[in-house]
Amino acid sequence: MNKTIYFIANWKMNGNHNSINEIERVLNFFKKNTIYKFKKIIFCPPSNLLTSFRIKIKSKLIDFGAQDISKINVNNGPYTGQLSAKMLKDSGANYVIIGHSEKRLIDEDFKTIKEKINISLKNKLKIIFCIGENLSQKNKGSSLNVLKKQILSSLDVNKINFNNLIIAYEPIWSIGTGIVPTNNYLDKIYRNLKKFFKEKYKVNSPIMLYGGSVTTDNVATLGKIGLISGFLIGGASLKSTSFIKIIKNYFK
Ligand code: PGA
Repeated sequence: MNKTIYFIANWKMNGNHNSINEIERVLNFFKKNTIYKFKKIIFCPPSNLLTSFRIKIKSKLIDFGAQDISKINVNNGPYTGQLSAKMLKDSGANYVIIGHSEKRLIDEDFKTIKEKINISLKNKLKIIFCIGENLSQKNKGSSLNVLKKQILSSLDVNKINFNNLIIAYEPIWSIGTGIVPTNNYLDKIYRNLKKFFKEKYKVNSPIMLYGGSVTTDNVATLGKIGLISGFLIGGASLKSTSFIKIIKNYFK
């Protein structure tokens, strides 16, 4: 069976109204090159661009997500600076990134992450839930324990619908550094995560992605890890040329 491979563009704090051109180029390429069937492309631009991009890009070939939601569990109200799940849905997002390590570094703990996940599920936003250990945790050999803790403190055993949840494993030491874990390292992580999800959450095949310095050069190697269902891509997703090439190289 051919499984769907996710290519999620995390634009972080980058992009402007002209960046729609990059997405249009991606769209036009895949409209013309229909051999790439088993893929799902999701762009997560900054929220200020979501609506205008969604209005211009109506194709089923490309979906959109936000990079954060408010933890306040109401649709509207006197909450300066907040964007509710409902507002993000209205602006064209079907997905939302939650728990990214860069956001955690600024102001997000796992209690907040759990609240945001539950609000997103309630509002039918699909979640791209990020987990990952830092370098010192890796060096101490505690990566798996760290990941399990992050998962347990974020995902309510009884509430999570795994059809609406994508797990992105992003080792913090790999994000934006050009350093990518070996396939051996990753293989072990994903096999253990799969086992853990089965034991704790009774889910057989959670959707698990890899993120951290994915490029046109390393995607084919990373793609050899059977338990990976795709990639969360930062820097290399900003330009259509490299984003398209990542997808082409994966399927080569
Ligand atoms: P990177 O970012 O591809 O630039 O390393 C990935 C991410 O942070 O999601």
